[in-house]
Amino acid sequence: MEVTAFSPLGAMSYFELDMADQHESVLEHSAIKAAASRTHETAAQVVLRWGLQRGTSLVVKSFKTERMRENLSLDDFELTAADMDAISGLNINRRFDDPGDFCEVAFGTFHPIYD
Ligand SMILES: NC(=O)c1ccc[n+]([C@@H]2O[C@H](COP(=O)([O-])OP(=O)(O)OC[C@H]3O[C@@H](n4cnc5c(N)ncnc54)[C@H](OP(=O)(O)O)[C@@H]3O)[C@@H](O)[C@H]2O)c1
Repeated sequence: MEVTAFSPLGAMSYFELDMADQHESVLEHSAIKAAASRTHETAAQVVLRWGLQRGTSLVVKSFKTERMRENLSLDDFELTAADMDAISGLNINRRFDDPGDFCEVAFGTFHPIYD
C-alpha cells in the first residue's frame, strides 16, 4: 500500500479557500528555511524532499511553469537525518483538508466522494 501526500505543501492551497492563515505556511518556518539555506534549494523543495525521503508519494500542483520545474527537481540533494527530524518535529496535528468537512467548507455542499 502506497501512502500518498495530497497538498504536500501544507497550507498553501488553503489560503484562497479561507481555510488557513498565512502564518500557517510551513514554507516560512525557520527549520525549513535553515534546510533550504544549507542545501541551496527552495523552501518548497525542502518540504517536498522531506515527503519523498520518508517514502511518501507526492501529488503537488502549480499553475506556474517555473514552480513545476522546481517541484520536479528533488533528486539532486538530500536532507540530513537532523533535517528530517527537525521537520518531522513540526507536526502539530493540523489538518487543512479533513475529508469529513472539506467540501462543505470549500464548496458549500456535501460531496460523498470519500465513500
Ligand atoms: N482527492 C483528494 O482528496 C485531494 C485532496 C487534496 C488535494 N488533492 C489534489 O492534490 C493536488 C495538490 O493539492 P493542492 O493543490 O491542495 O496542494 P499543493 O500542491 O501542496 O499546493 C498547491 C499550492 O502551492 C503553490 N505552490 C506550488 N508549488 C510551489 C512552490 N514551488 N513554491 C511556492 N508555492 C508553490 C500553488 O500556487 P501556484 O499554482 O500559484 O504555484 C498552490 O497555491 C491537487 O491536484 C489537488 O486537487 C486531492
